[in-house]
Amino acid sequence: MRPAFSSTTFSTIAATLAIAALFSLPSSQALADAASNVAGKSTTSTDGAVIFQQVCQGCHMANAKGAVGAGYIPALAGNPKLKSAGYPIYVVLNGYGGMPWLGTMLNDAQVASVVNYVRSNFGNNYTDKSKPEDVAAVRGAAPTMEK
Ligand code: HEC
Repeated sequence: MRPAFSSTTFSTIAATLAIAALFSLPSSQALADAASNVAGKSTTSTDGAVIFQQVCQGCHMANAKGAVGAGYIPALAGNPKLKSAGYPIYVVLNGYGGMPWLGTMLNDAQVASVVNYVRSNFGNNYTDKSKPEDVAAVRGAAPTMEK
């Protein structure tokens, strides 16, 4: 008995479905968001917790305990180096070793917010808050790739 569809018809249908699947992928914006951990300016939140989730936790892990594997990512949880806010501000702006600089991705208010979040969570209890002006001061002090 002859099949209702020839195999050519089937492959045409398969190809059409494949193309439809391609176009139903998340929008390029959504894909860009996934890559925004290291590049782009798509994090618009000024909420430190949200910025941590969107930018930092991909490397430092959701519990901020870091990881050791293909590289070494230090824990931010219970990290005594966060005592002075200037240090994490500097690292976030300029990068450090295997960590990329995020100063072109985050504005002063965002850096202050995420630094405040990290310094007052994950077992860190530093109560002094950084302000955007503090970040601007550190930003000004360091040479950047711009210009
Ligand atoms: C692409 C991965 C990556 C992202 C994203 C990232 N970090 Fe890091 N971070 C690292 C690595 C790797 C190091 C260690 C660098 C080294 O020691 O060479 C580090 C180091 C640090 C340090 C210094 C810790 C210490 O003990 O000296 C701080 C503070 C820090 N990161 C904060 C943040 C914050 C806050 C964010 C989000 C705004 C962030 N990082 C995003 C990978 C990342």
